[in-house]
Amino acid sequence: MTATALKKEMDMADVPNSKAWQKVCTKADLVAFSGVAAWLETAEGPAQVAIFYLPGLRGKGDELYALDHHDPFSNANVIARGIVGDLKGAAVVASPIYKQHFRLEDGQCLEDEDVKLRTWKVEFKGDEVWVEG
Ligand code: FES
Repeated sequence: MTATALKKEMDMADVPNSKAWQKVCTKADLVAFSGVAAWLETAEGPAQVAIFYLPGLRGKGDELYALDHHDPFSNANVIARGIVGDLKGAAVVASPIYKQHFRLEDGQCLEDEDVKLRTWKVEFKGDEVWVEG
């Protein structure tokens, strides 16, 4: 099947503006206590998501996070390359460019309350990583 035909099939399977769970990568692609970037189809078009994996740090089912890979401050796709840490009791990622911190849970920037990255639901299905886009 061509990519266009496949895309058409995906489009038809989707109710407009509905969210769909998508496989974005496998557990083997993840880097513990760090991020990887993946493509996601969203209602607004394709988006690059940063998937963070914090095994054992939080409760089970609470160790994966998916947020925008795009950094609004530097306008570059770099969030998955940020350093993960703990700030004010929350798991955060620091943008590798200007070092703003974004809460993994909800994408909130801790230095600027007006800036928030998009976040998506993410979970393991067996060894696969699925995101609701
Ligand atoms: S993320 Fe590209 S240089 Fe650091």
